[in-house]
Amino acid sequence: MNAKLILIPIFLIGSCVTQDQPINDVIFDVFFNVTTPNGISDQVLRESNSETTDHPVTTVGQKNLPRPLSGNSFQACGTRMVCVRQYLCNNGKVDDSGTKLIEIRLGSGCNTGLEKCCDISEISDEPTLNPLPSTVGCGYRNKNGVGIKISEPTDNVAEFGEFPWMVRILEKTISNGKVVISPKCGGSLIAPRVVLTGAHCVNTTQILNYRVRAGEWDSKSNAEPYPHQDREVEEIIMHENYNSGNLKNNIALLFLATAFDTAAPHINTICLPPANTNFDSLRCFASGWGAKNQGDENLTNILKKIDLPVVSKAKCQNALRQTRLGPFFKLHSSLMCAGGEIGKDTCKGDGGSPLVCPMANNSDRYYQVGIVSWGIGCGNENVPGVYANVKALRSWIDEKLASKD
Ligand code: ARG
Repeated sequence: MNAKLILIPIFLIGSCVTQDQPINDVIFDVFFNVTTPNGISDQVLRESNSETTDHPVTTVGQKNLPRPLSGNSFQACGTRMVCVRQYLCNNGKVDDSGTKLIEIRLGSGCNTGLEKCCDISEISDEPTLNPLPSTVGCGYRNKNGVGIKISEPTDNVAEFGEFPWMVRILEKTISNGKVVISPKCGGSLIAPRVVLTGAHCVNTTQILNYRVRAGEWDSKSNAEPYPHQDREVEEIIMHENYNSGNLKNNIALLFLATAFDTAAPHINTICLPPANTNFDSLRCFASGWGAKNQGDENLTNILKKIDLPVVSKAKCQNALRQTRLGPFFKLHSSLMCAGGEIGKDTCKGDGGSPLVCPMANNSDRYYQVGIVSWGIGCGNENVPGVYANVKALRSWIDEKLASKD
């Protein structure tokens, strides 16, 4: 027998062993090609094949692994732990408390919120997606996510597909001869081909510059269980009496070139409120990819959800009079307020996004009550955020929809 063949692997293992590194970690490292500086394996696992099907399996050492989210390598996130799509990680030894995930979003661990730091032995080859929602009609919120459940209740992060009416308005600009597509505002789907947003978000002379994206969740990842859909804009109708100074009548409708496929489980429409409903003091949700806090330069990658109360007109006007707006400030009837609780507010970049409130007779279903418009700072106590009042603008919406039929 050739002694060299036996000696080489022994030498390889032996040369890696340090006093404080257990032998099974070392064997793992040799098999899976993970280097462990500082005792923490934060390098990458190399993949040994390059299949391109949706969840191809690759064989590394003795273990079959699904394809990594991006690139050719798995990102390691601990001893014998790698980042894989959430739904490929079986529960069991895996930390499913959300702790890892929260760290992920703060920038360590796995790169996207769709990945989970998973013990190598817990990775399944086949995705185990949760049952899909089977609802027909507008306004159904998927509070447990579509396919996967990710967030912790305290995260202020939406589940994937939780607000299926949420869309992102993208703007195409030319910079140094290149087309750059950047996020402009939020919006909502009120019909498969019609988006509701703030008038301050769009300019009717630049229709060709906008694109609408539905089914988006993590804007930095394409690894969601279901893909987003993009549509071009065919026509923009802005409120004739929109005033860019005080943002009264801050409403616009975008008619798309083609309808979104609302048969997709994560894309659906939101219901519009009847004129006679009162939402004062009701706890509602705003969603958006805007800044988390006042002064934040960056928008968020993963869709935020903010739970906040609707504030009556009288209370809101009074609260806003205590700010720099002064004692004579009048809140226009086309505006309404929500929030006023510390740290719970929409903010810069959330403009045009929907504020939705549960229906009285079915708390799984929602009406769109507001459109994110403006605020005095973000998240300050007793300073509610100001929204276009969808109920008050409902007849305008109906009129425009009817004129297009
Ligand atoms: N005008 C901002 C935008 O278009 C939205 C600001 C919302 N502010 C607030 N405090 N709620 O992005």
